[in-house]
Amino acid sequence: MKQFTITIAGGGSTFTPGIVLMLLDNQEKFPIKEIKFYDNDEARQATIAGATEVILQEKAPNIKLTATTDPETAFSNTDFVMAHIRTGKYAMREQDEKIPLKHGVVGQETCGPGGIAYGMRSIGDVLELVDYMDKYSPDAWFLNYSNPAAIVAEATRKLRPHSNILNICDMPIGIEELMADAIGLSSRKEMEVDYFGLNHFGWWTGIRDKAGNDLLPQIREHVSKYGYVTDNESLQHSDASWNSTFAKAKDVQALDPETVPNTYLKYYFYPDHEVAKSDASYTRANEVMDGREKFIFGECQKIIDSQTAKDSELHIDEHASYIVDLARAIAYNTKERMLLIVENNGAISNFDATAMVEVPCIVGSKGPEPLTQGEIPRFHKGLMEQQVTVEKLVVEAFEYGSYQKLWQALTVSKIVPSAKVAKDILDDLLEVNKPYWPELT
Ligand code: NAD
Ligand code: G6P
Ligand code: MN
Repeated sequence: MKQFTITIAGGGSTFTPGIVLMLLDNQEKFPIKEIKFYDNDEARQATIAGATEVILQEKAPNIKLTATTDPETAFSNTDFVMAHIRTGKYAMREQDEKIPLKHGVVGQETCGPGGIAYGMRSIGDVLELVDYMDKYSPDAWFLNYSNPAAIVAEATRKLRPHSNILNICDMPIGIEELMADAIGLSSRKEMEVDYFGLNHFGWWTGIRDKAGNDLLPQIREHVSKYGYVTDNESLQHSDASWNSTFAKAKDVQALDPETVPNTYLKYYFYPDHEVAKSDASYTRANEVMDGREKFIFGECQKIIDSQTAKDSELHIDEHASYIVDLARAIAYNTKERMLLIVENNGAISNFDATAMVEVPCIVGSKGPEPLTQGEIPRFHKGLMEQQVTVEKLVVEAFEYGSYQKLWQALTVSKIVPSAKVAKDILDDLLEVNKPYWPELT
């Protein structure tokens, strides 16, 4: 059996240890000979790599680890690039969240002005990684989950149309685990779903078990009462902000009781509520820096100091196993059915053919084949057209270095109340993003 080489771009990510542990747990399904970490922050990556070295020695001494900031070393002789970079790191996420809030607008990592600012930072860096892969391992596949995935996906569609790239998000997977639990299934893999939308902006329209029995009515009823909250504590997120997001899905679903929604729609349907409960001096970025980031880097340092992971609290990121499913689908032509962010091209028949949409796909060694979702109703279509316009305008703003297009993007965003507010936010974002955005004229 072939043993694969994996490049993890964003080796210093808080998600890297959980993904490595998940890969180690899947060696029978997806054997690995080498893992390469690539990051542009050598010191940050060194802590994660130092701990990973110890973990590999204890669990899989045959797997080689290379941690580097040199693109040629990282991207040569690789089969899959798993990309989860964050340009500007949490310090810039904090700005993305706090600047809009200062103007009374939702401050969020991927939605509204925050997502637009993050998109303008991410595009150039993700394209650079794609170019490294194309130069050093042109047959490899780029599995991207760097955010904002909707905007990054549109940029890769338009600016790197011939590269092997798959864009994916874990939110539907996390939600499907909660749905499965809510109706007493042991795994989301017992369900087959129909879904349409954009990334962080979609709806489940059909959910069946493997025998074809309709599960949607039961799930709809649960969501209409409790959102995605279940009584299984092990599945619930430990951070209160996530639990309130899962509960809020109840109010999001009320807009279309026939379907069940992606949790991110709350920012578009209830922005006033989101702003009112936000603390402009302590946002999700602060929560993550004080929580996940401290925990992961603390645990890694302990492993390095003690040279053993025996007592470590680091755990497998189980739901990241979709990454193995995706890589296996490409490597072994498994024809796995998965939600991916792909060019619409008729999958949603009454929607822009060039939009990057999130729909179920059959994934094999040639990549994804999107499954037709048919016509979508006016409500969803209207919302999606507005949002996809924002995403396309951001990519045009990046491509042409256009302030005007970026102001238009912010103005079209459903979350932003006026062109004046859009401009005020944009000018503040521009100020702090100078080191990361292309020059705008
Ligand atoms: P993080 O800041 O801990 O890690 C990101 C790493 O990327 C950092 O070590 C940073 O130095 C590195 N980096 C930044 N720019 C780089 C570049 N140009 N080249 C190489 N490395 C670079 O962030 P995190 O919270 O662990 O998240 C990582 C990414 O994964 C984010 O984009 C996040 O939004 C995304 N994410 C996506 C999904 C999804 O559903 N698609 C799920 C979880 C996380
Ligand atoms: C979900 C989304 C990701 C997003 C993450 C944010 O997993 O699908 O796209 O990055 O949540 O989580 P955080 O814990 O960093 O706020
Ligand atoms: Mn996501």
